[in-house]
Amino acid sequence: MSALIEEQAAWTAGSGSPLRGSLRVPGDKSVSHRAVMLGALAEGVTRVTGFLEGEDTRATARVFERLGVRIETPSASERIVHGVGMHGLRGVAEALDCGNAGTGMRLLAGVLAGQDFDSVLIGDASLSKRPMRRVTEPLAAMGAQIDTEDGGLPPLRIRGGRSLQGIEYTLPVASAQVKSALLLAGLYAYGDTVVHEPHPTRDYTERMLAAFGWPIEFSPGYARLSGGHVLRATGIAVPADFSSAAFFLVAASVVPGSELRLEAVGMNPRRTGLLAALRLMGADIVEENPRAEGGEPVADLRVRYAPLHGVDVPEALVPDMIDEFPALFIAAATAKGRTTIRGAAELRVKESDRIATMATGLRALGANIVETPDGAIIEGGTLHGGEVDSHGDHRIAMSFAIAAQLASGEVRIGDVANVATSFPGFEALAAKAGMRVGPAE
Ligand code: S3P
Repeated sequence: MSALIEEQAAWTAGSGSPLRGSLRVPGDKSVSHRAVMLGALAEGVTRVTGFLEGEDTRATARVFERLGVRIETPSASERIVHGVGMHGLRGVAEALDCGNAGTGMRLLAGVLAGQDFDSVLIGDASLSKRPMRRVTEPLAAMGAQIDTEDGGLPPLRIRGGRSLQGIEYTLPVASAQVKSALLLAGLYAYGDTVVHEPHPTRDYTERMLAAFGWPIEFSPGYARLSGGHVLRATGIAVPADFSSAAFFLVAASVVPGSELRLEAVGMNPRRTGLLAALRLMGADIVEENPRAEGGEPVADLRVRYAPLHGVDVPEALVPDMIDEFPALFIAAATAKGRTTIRGAAELRVKESDRIATMATGLRALGANIVETPDGAIIEGGTLHGGEVDSHGDHRIAMSFAIAAQLASGEVRIGDVANVATSFPGFEALAAKAGMRVGPAE
């Protein structure tokens, strides 16, 4: 671990000023991963702007470089991907490191299952504990051969040279990563690959495949494609990540006197569940200047402080706000009354067990929260200072930085280095907006 990361491994945070001004959060993580992947497999040169300079997406770019793809970085947040075509990747003997990124590993499993060389995918301590059977089993049904550690855990050892066959598959859990792994393997399969989802999830893979010229049919909860076509390079403009904007939507909603503008936020409806949940709680968030950028809906969001009250979070919103629960827990813990969350068991297999990590941390700050197997019951109230552990989970760290703005004493937040996976520069942007958060002494 570098000295820099060690120094920044903990934050102290406390009540700052009302959040003010206008800011743009970094590029969308999901879109950035996919832009590099499809750009690499395309014919021609793909220019990606607004690319997330996070550890996760850089890990994915490094994997493709190792596989023989030339990727230039003419300026920060810009990538020029020199596509090698569907069959141009070259295998390497060494393991390919996906870092902390579940998206990277699961989508790569789909791509690599279709190659004529063997590969091994590894990840960091957190990723090494995340379930992979959800992708290896349906990929095996397509003819792939992927060995895991006991319990279906990484590393993934992917055998090349297999002949893949399209399947029709209904996802047992709402997961865009699983859907995308199957669609990407389907690019290399004979026949049609069809995915049905009980709850529609983010559709960036489908939209981007279409933008790269691959014939695909899709609607919420459904996607169908066939193998054997080509991807043609195109330009990708990555919108600002709604999931990163989410921390500021909550912070400005709960800190009295705040009025903040978030610029050019990606508003794909499969991502904006938090907006609906916060509005049910009484938040004052206005969408301004809605427009399309790079084929994705984008808007500026103006958020003003508003007193929030507890709600039963509608279960139908869960997949559309799956990454936003840590931030929502903070809104609930500081709102008036009770908030109930159900149908969110997936939170237990994210970068950390997000139900347990949030419950433990919030209790350390005096909140009243009861964990349930698939959610939590949170009684809103006041928070005091204390010490919380992020368990290396970026979104937990940033959520407690928001909680600290309302706490009566200082909050020490441990194990925060992984914030760089999705939101490099979070502290600087948060401080610019008025929050008090910085490296612990
Ligand atoms: C993602 C899908 C979601 C999400 C993750 C990114 C993607 O994961 O939590 O941050 O880019 O496809 P699941 O598919 O596991 O729900």
